[in-house]
Amino acid sequence: MKILTVNDILGLIKIVGIESFFSRLISALNQDFSRWPSFYKSARHATHYAHGVIELMPCSDDSLYAFKYVNGHPGNTAEGKLSVIAIGQLSEVASGYPLMICEMTLLTAFRTAAVGVLAASYLARPESEVLAVIGTGAQSEFQVLGFNSVFPLRQIRFFDLDAGAMRKFARNLSAYPLELVQCRSIKEAVREADIIVTGTAAKKRQSLFALEDIAPGTHIQAMGGDCPGKTELGHVLLSAAKLIVEYTPQALVEGEVQQCDASHIHAELWELVSGHKPGRENAQEITVFDAVGFALEDFSALRLAYELACEHHLGTEMPLIPDLDDPKDLFGLLSA
Ligand SMILES: NC(=O)c1ccc[n+]([C@@H]2O[C@H](COP(=O)([O-])OP(=O)(O)OC[C@H]3O[C@@H](n4cnc5c(N)ncnc54)[C@H](O)[C@@H]3O)[C@@H](O)[C@H]2O)c1
Repeated sequence: MKILTVNDILGLIKIVGIESFFSRLISALNQDFSRWPSFYKSARHATHYAHGVIELMPCSDDSLYAFKYVNGHPGNTAEGKLSVIAIGQLSEVASGYPLMICEMTLLTAFRTAAVGVLAASYLARPESEVLAVIGTGAQSEFQVLGFNSVFPLRQIRFFDLDAGAMRKFARNLSAYPLELVQCRSIKEAVREADIIVTGTAAKKRQSLFALEDIAPGTHIQAMGGDCPGKTELGHVLLSAAKLIVEYTPQALVEGEVQQCDASHIHAELWELVSGHKPGRENAQEITVFDAVGFALEDFSALRLAYELACEHHLGTEMPLIPDLDDPKDLFGLLSA
């Protein structure tokens, strides 16, 4: 069984390149969302605490089984820890044997951006060139580079309550040919945007901006609100928007749509990908991808990481499962 560490994933990204990794991941997500009925799906198992959440996210088809362990602790950064860390496992269904255990903190950031870009390819105006980012924490640069790989981005407008997080964001993106505009308020950031990414971490109901603060035709990638009582957009804006979710049973508990009801949902993402329902229908619509993170996305990220790790001989084989001559003689290991 392979172990893929953070360094292995960094090595993989170095070999493949960030842009090409995004394009392969978006394509893996596209393939998997377009065969939605072939997956065994469930809402994730979430254990909530006053200060955060710990979640297990399983998803499987008839050949591979994947699950991710992930947390969400908005107060962690004040203690020098990440808000979101993750580890995943991929197993073969035929025997139930694990194929790989893999770091998923980086992979989660990549897949969250990639699935947002997949959704935006049906929902945002293709000529979108101004992206606003609200919340410039750990996920933010991944979001920008993901969107930049598909949309002709020219300008990034950004705002965070933490000036240090904005300096870090600007430093990390300074090498890219993008005009970076640090804003003094959320309103200033969003008013000229074609696409808005909300990626704030706060365990409360927020309304980061109002309907009248944004231009007609804006697409919102709402990815920061992902727990009961943790939202980023207000009810009026949601009611005026075309709302797309990943998986309705989970979205109704964790998404922005927890403030409304199922009748506000236009479609699940797979319905856009497989052509069952239309995405954007005119240039004036406000569209919202109410992303909370669904286990199928981690399935796609893990299967891609496994394929690439095998192709490039990355990772370490580790004896985490007993290797026996007689599979009924487990006890014999103790006397060997
Ligand atoms: N949908 C998904 O699949 C998915 C995946 C990963 C993370 N997330 C969520 O995305 C959010 C961001 O994750 P992260 O890893 O970047 O967290 P982070 O803690 O690194 O960054 C969050 C940033 O938001 C800022 N912020 C908080 N409230 C704000 C406000 N009102 N206005 C402006 N900025 C504000 C903070 O100062 C911080 O810099 C978290 O809530 C996390 O749970 C969702």
